[in-house]
Amino acid sequence: MEYPRVIELPKFLDKRGNLSFIEEFKQIPFKIERTYWIYDVPGGEERGGHAYKENEEFIVALSGSFDVVLDNGAEKLKFPLNRSYYGLYIPKGWWRMMDNFSTNSLAMILASIPYSQFDYIRDYKKFLSWKGF
Ligand code: TYD
Repeated sequence: MEYPRVIELPKFLDKRGNLSFIEEFKQIPFKIERTYWIYDVPGGEERGGHAYKENEEFIVALSGSFDVVLDNGAEKLKFPLNRSYYGLYIPKGWWRMMDNFSTNSLAMILASIPYSQFDYIRDYKKFLSWKGF
C-alpha cells in the first residue's frame, strides 16, 4: 500500500511576487486528467468524506489553510496544509476528509482520472470491508 506524502514544489522567490508550478510526472507521480477546487467553505464545514478506488490526487492550499485527514483503515494521518509551495499526494485507496477550513481558503486538487461517481466509496463501513478489514 502506497503512503501519502507532502511534496515540496519549485519556488521562485521574487520581489514582484513568488511563483510555483506543477508538471505531471515531474513534481507529482501521475498524469493530470482533471483539476477542481473547493472554495467559499463556510466555517465548521467538512468536505470529501469518501475514498477513491483508482483516483490519485494532489492537493495544494493555494490560499488560507485546512486539514486533510487520511485513513487506510488501520492508521489515521492528519496533514495541515497552509502554503502554496507544497502539496499533499494521496495514493488511491485512502479514506479522505477535509476540515478546519480558514476564511477565504482555496483548495486546488489535481486528479489522475476524469470524474466518475463509480470510483467513489462513500460509506466508511464499505470502505473497511473493501480494504479487507
Ligand atoms: P464530491 O467529490 O462528492 O465532494 P464532497 O465529497 O466534498 O462532498 O463532489 C460534489 C459534487 O460535485 C458531486 O456530486 C459531483 C460534482 N463533481 C463533478 O461533477 N466533478 C468533479 O470533478 C468533482 C470532484 C465533483
